[in-house]
Amino acid sequence: MTDDADTENAGARAAPVPRHVAIIMDGNGRWAEKRGQARHAGHRAGVNSVRSTIEVCIEHGVEVLTIFAFSSENWRRPKTEINLLMELFLTALQREVRRLQSNDIRLRVIGDIAAFPEKLQKRIRASEEATAGNRRMLLQVAANYGGRWDITQAARSLAAAAARGELDPADIDEAMLANATLLAGQPDPDLFIRTGGDQRISNFLLWHCAYTELYFTPVLWPDFDAAEMKRALLSFGGRQRRFGRTGAQVELED
Ligand code: FPP
Repeated sequence: MTDDADTENAGARAAPVPRHVAIIMDGNGRWAEKRGQARHAGHRAGVNSVRSTIEVCIEHGVEVLTIFAFSSENWRRPKTEINLLMELFLTALQREVRRLQSNDIRLRVIGDIAAFPEKLQKRIRASEEATAGNRRMLLQVAANYGGRWDITQAARSLAAAAARGELDPADIDEAMLANATLLAGQPDPDLFIRTGGDQRISNFLLWHCAYTELYFTPVLWPDFDAAEMKRALLSFGGRQRRFGRTGAQVELED
């Protein structure tokens, strides 16, 4: 936790830190428009927030950080904005991979990247390969990702296994379906953050956010700095997660 939280918790149980944080980075366009700049300037400024958020996460021992960079619905945006976003992803990957390496961070992109320009797909694969051995944190970038799409492709792969006779449909349970999603083997997000003022999940990690703590802030993504990220972690640390139990049971058992 932050220094402040450490002081507050001196002598008490340490505030829990989320193992997995998921973020919808919203508000880039409005940030730029407020300054009379093109929306793209907001996306570019947003890269700095990605950097500072990663730093806070590794400092606090977060194991997985999943950020929503491009949703399957973002294709509805003007073509020029989409093209500039693709350019930005490409240059950010080129520039940041060295920093990921020196911080022992593994990069993974989840989503249907086949729809992206070939050059970007290649860069994504190369960056994933270059960082594959890193262990300190997993940075998971959701790109052309949709929660319903993920559940659908999981269902399709189980149905295909059943059709091949490798699986009895009666044996399909929640764990099996979870293992067929793109987040197989990872802890579910403990903390979900959305910046930019809207309070919705927008088809992000639908299956995985069943018990996730939600944190909404009006702060626009380019203004979401290290202090804001620490504020979100502090809010998480103060929550009681009951997973269906009573508050009294949680007090006794945890
Ligand atoms: C939402 O803001 C943001 C996006 C669709 C793109 C997010 C991309 C970045 C922060 C770039 C860096 C990412 C990586 C992985 C290097 P919005 O455009 O919807 O803002 P608005 O709601 O104000 O219009």
